[in-house]
Amino acid sequence: MISTVTMRWNGKELELIDQRKLPQVEEYLKCTTSDCVASAIRDMAVRGAPAIGATAAFGYVIGAMENVKNLTEERMNSVKEKLAQTRPTAVNLFWALDRMNSKFLSLKSRKPDFIIDELNKEAEKIAREDIDVNKKMGEYGQKLLQENSTVITHCNAGALATVDYGTALGMIHAAIDHGKHVSAYVDETRPYLQGARLTAWELMKLGVKTTLICDNMAGWVMKTRKVDAVIVGADRIAANGDVANKIGTYSLALLAKRHNVKFYVVAPLSTIDVKIKSGLEIPIEERSHDEVTAVRGVKIAPESVEVYNPAFDVTDADLVDAIITEKGVLTYPYDKKIADITRGG
Ligand code: MRU
Repeated sequence: MISTVTMRWNGKELELIDQRKLPQVEEYLKCTTSDCVASAIRDMAVRGAPAIGATAAFGYVIGAMENVKNLTEERMNSVKEKLAQTRPTAVNLFWALDRMNSKFLSLKSRKPDFIIDELNKEAEKIAREDIDVNKKMGEYGQKLLQENSTVITHCNAGALATVDYGTALGMIHAAIDHGKHVSAYVDETRPYLQGARLTAWELMKLGVKTTLICDNMAGWVMKTRKVDAVIVGADRIAANGDVANKIGTYSLALLAKRHNVKFYVVAPLSTIDVKIKSGLEIPIEERSHDEVTAVRGVKIAPESVEVYNPAFDVTDADLVDAIITEKGVLTYPYDKKIADITRGG
């Protein structure tokens, strides 16, 4: 059993808070098929790297239940493929599916009911571990925030982007728990508005002084207001420390460098992809042009205009002051530190 704001799992059905409708409507989408789980990830009912990973793990269990009468390696490969083909950038998706698949392969000669039971335990373990590592990262990260810090956030790396607690917002959560006052400028995060819709909602619930800004205001805010740090999550971190995160992150990192503002990335080890040497190799998702030509369904651009809509960008490792993981805080240069920290799981 898992029950958080982001997701509820009872061993059979997965309920996801429908993040497309937040903050106006708080409604749960119920999935009882692996097709439903795949669509929920692809269509962004659930989003955020760690949340996508845990959701896919539950989707894998549902896929096994669908195939209980013929639980073969071939069938489970196609369940895995279906879930893997939903979004390409967040490595947590593939990490969670590989972990579920290894579990399955280690048990495949056993009875289907037993296998499903064990897969269920593994998926719940992934979900619980996520909450646990987020709290650990929060603890490490909050030490970098002084009393009365002001931060800029981008996209949503809060409880909603994880099973619970959040990565970058977990750092703010932990600082508050330590009695610190933290204020946040929240980038709206065009085109999908995760900042305006989700981060502002979460931070206000946490009691953080929250000021919403359009993405193109961040430079001016850094120049004219007191800002101590930019804190973001990550979708994939290469072996050299290059960070793929929501489009606009790279611009923020450049602005932070110019204005002497710290730039922190908070991400679990499951987001580090040591197979990828540098950020140039990270696949960047491109999304529908409608996200750019319309805002919440209202057309804002000429019908036939050409559009480019990359959902993520890559921030060079040397622009990142620290990567906060559940095993501690890494500082640039990252190559050796990432190799050491990821060795031996
Ligand atoms: O397209 P999204 O909303 O899935 O993008 C999410 C992000 O970019 C987050 O910053 C990232 O996944 C880290 S979430 C803890």
